[in-house]
Amino acid sequence: MASAVANIRATSGGNARFNKEALSWDARPFVYEASQAAAEAVLSKLKSLDRQPKQVLEIGCGTGTLSFLIAPHVDRVVAVDAADGMIEVLKIKLAKSGAPTNILPVAVLLEDPEDGSLPGADSGKPESQRQKFDLIISHLVLHHIPDLGSVLRTMLGCLKPGGCVMLTDFEDFGPEAKRFHPASKMAGVERHGIDAAAMSKLMHDIGFKHVSVQAEWTMRKRVESFDGEFGGDDGLGMAKQETGESMSFPFLLCYGERAD
Ligand SMILES: C[S@@+](CC[C@H](N)C(=O)[O-])C[C@H]1O[C@@H](n2cnc3c(N)ncnc32)[C@H](O)[C@@H]1O
Repeated sequence: MASAVANIRATSGGNARFNKEALSWDARPFVYEASQAAAEAVLSKLKSLDRQPKQVLEIGCGTGTLSFLIAPHVDRVVAVDAADGMIEVLKIKLAKSGAPTNILPVAVLLEDPEDGSLPGADSGKPESQRQKFDLIISHLVLHHIPDLGSVLRTMLGCLKPGGCVMLTDFEDFGPEAKRFHPASKMAGVERHGIDAAAMSKLMHDIGFKHVSVQAEWTMRKRVESFDGEFGGDDGLGMAKQETGESMSFPFLLCYGERAD
């Protein structure tokens, strides 16, 4: 355990900000509450569509909070994250007694559906062909991705025919959406939430079928009353009870299917 933690601190990985934040990630109540709301939205959408996915891919799993919540409902979750530090924390959690045994953690910046870090399709298939999934989930990740079209193409390539994506993130509902992040945590934020109409059009254009992008829930979050109120790096930009103000943020569920 001590050496694993040292490894997290020492790792440089491809994602400096999230490597740095990995050890304190699970100490944030908002992270768990948001993942719980995402899991409820995903499970309720699956129920309404009468879908029972077996093989699930989570892209940008962080320390695996959403994967843990989805795992009891499916055969296996392949949980990938670009930040080695996040995956190291997930591995520590998975090694504890009582943890799910059907989550496979993978440290990779996933940009290619045939990336060799993904599990192989099955033993009978050629080495180069990677596993395809019934469901892809991704939570609070899209707003960090520079090229949404590119990641959606990757997701489409990771789906089985007839498989679907359920991507959750906060909505870009206007200029106030910028307040989701404190000033000290703007590094790696590519957009202040997801614009529902633009996302819907993009998913159609990339080739997803039966697309729907809708606000599914709202969450209250403590935000800065003025830029920099929550401090800088040492405090990790986290709100203290007595600072900031509470603001409500809508969350979208972006749904699309790969054609049969
Ligand atoms: C804001 S964190 C969210 C983590 C987690 N989903 C949660 O809600 O706790 C975004 C994560 O997405 C990861 N990420 C972004 N793009 C990625 C990609 N293409 N492949 C894998 N991970 C990615 C980052 O490394 C980071 O850990």
